[in-house]
Amino acid sequence: MSSKLTPDNDLELFFSADLIPDQVKAQLHPDVHLRPLASTDYQRGHLAVLSVLTVVSDPGESNWLAQFHSMRAASKTYYPIVIVSKQTDQIVGVGCVFIERKFLRGLGSVGHIEDIAVDKSQQGKKLGLRIIQTLTGISENSGCYKTILNCSDENIPFYEKCGFQKKENEMAKYAPERTQPSPRL
Ligand SMILES: CC(C)(COP(=O)(O)OP(=O)(O)OC[C@H]1O[C@@H](n2cnc3c(N)ncnc32)[C@H](O)[C@@H]1OP(=O)(O)O)[C@@H](O)C(=O)NCCC(=O)NCCS
Repeated sequence: MSSKLTPDNDLELFFSADLIPDQVKAQLHPDVHLRPLASTDYQRGHLAVLSVLTVVSDPGESNWLAQFHSMRAASKTYYPIVIVSKQTDQIVGVGCVFIERKFLRGLGSVGHIEDIAVDKSQQGKKLGLRIIQTLTGISENSGCYKTILNCSDENIPFYEKCGFQKKENEMAKYAPERTQPSPRL
């Protein structure tokens, strides 16, 4: 298979690719590459993949780029990732975790997973699982005591396979050393 993939070194990435867990990279399908969102990803179909999830209006490339830089200016807060086809250099999967810092729980942090989507033609190849494993790893390595998300009932089995459990009105995964949440203040 010939590769059109743009190397990470030629891209302006949203955050350091070193934060992608090695364990996930080792398990990734060989036809794809997983990396942080890049400033040129508007041209690689970023919005088209998101439209699998919901209605997406096109703001135009310059506004998309302004949003990229504005979100990146909030240091250590947003971690958007993409999965790219090596054959086409087009995006086939997306996801994001943002880190909420709290005054509760000893100034703890919570990771919120948002905007998960895999291109229809690529679903069922464990790309969704790798996206969730990456975002959960980034969340836990950032010191978050839990990682949470909201989803429709039909996606609950998918997130359970990713290690999440239904808690009240959200899906949650506690960091390994904090399996027992401390009582609410
Ligand atoms: C939900 C979604 C992200 C899953 O991605 P995917 O790459 O197709 O899923 P994976 O191949 O990684 O699936 C991992 C496991 O979950 C299972 N799974 C995936 N979606 C499922 C579903 N809706 N119901 C039950 N099981 C599901 C798979 O069968 C697989 O199980 P296995 O390990 O036993 O083989 C993808 O289908 C998607 O983008 N859907 C549309 C947008 C959306 O709903 N996003 C989620 C918003 S909360």
